Amino acid sequence: MPNRLQNKVAIITGAGQGIGAAISRRLTREGAKIVLVDINADCLESLAHELGTESLAIAADISRKDQVLSMVKQAKDAFGSIDILVNNAGIIRDGFLSRLSEDDWDKVMDVNLKGPFLCCQAVFDIMKAQNSGKIVNIVSRSWLGNIGQANYSASKGGLVSLTRTLALELARFQINVNAVAPGLIETPMTKNMPEEALARLLRMQPTGKMGSVDDIAAAVAFLSSGDGDFINGQILHVDGGKSCGLLSL
Ligand SMILES: NC(=O)c1ccc[n+]([C@@H]2O[C@H](COP(=O)([O-])OP(=O)(O)OC[C@H]3O[C@@H](n4cnc5c(N)ncnc54)[C@H](O)[C@@H]3O)[C@@H](O)[C@H]2O)c1
Repeated sequence: MPNRLQNKVAIITGAGQGIGAAISRRLTREGAKIVLVDINADCLESLAHELGTESLAIAADISRKDQVLSMVKQAKDAFGSIDILVNNAGIIRDGFLSRLSEDDWDKVMDVNLKGPFLCCQAVFDIMKAQNSGKIVNIVSRSWLGNIGQANYSASKGGLVSLTRTLALELARFQINVNAVAPGLIETPMTKNMPEEALARLLRMQPTGKMGSVDDIAAAVAFLSSGDGDFINGQILHVDGGKSCGLLSL
């Protein structure tokens, strides 16, 4: 395992389970001190315990500006710097257009798009003063469009645009902003899918198999490290090639 993140401080949102927990484990193994952030405090404690003393668990709702500012202050006070921000927290509220409620739209936008905006804004002054930083936004292959996910796809498409714009704005402060777009990943969500629906998705998968949370974590570790210093504003699809063939939608 490379040790590329020695002494770096990383904030991971949505760290309590799934992809966020895998990113937290991977960045820890590469030497980073981890600030675990999740709206669900229960799932954070055991992970913080597993990761050890160089981690800090903070319960916060990333869609609330006051909570984001307080979370970033606690992180800076505890570790002295913030080198990496991974905007991973995200939610789904799927439905066809006629059935999507205004609340479904607003909640998904608040968490998936406004949350990363608030977190980027909150760490900006710290990274600017350091003249270095890495921001990785977790989007989704669905940003290209996905039936039944108008709100989710639009939120991730918005996050792609935010990524590209901040990459341009922040480059002169040596802050890189990139995105990772996971495809079909084996998580509790996919494990609970009806067999037929899962089989259909796997038939559309060029590799014929799902990715793992560790595949996403490896991509995030790479973009968070010095190996990604000249990579900025990019959307790295980690999807087994599915995004190459729009017919597979
Ligand atoms: N699982 C997949 O196949 C897949 C595919 C593409 C993209 N993604 C994206 O990857 C990211 C992680 O997905 P996952 O499958 O691990 O999801 P998950 O539901 O397993 O975990 C998400 C975590 O975010 C937390 N969270 C939700 N709302 C929050 C808020 N307002 N503030 C702070 N934390 C909050 C949840 O409590 C949870 O712990 C999401 O952005 C998701 O859109 C996942």
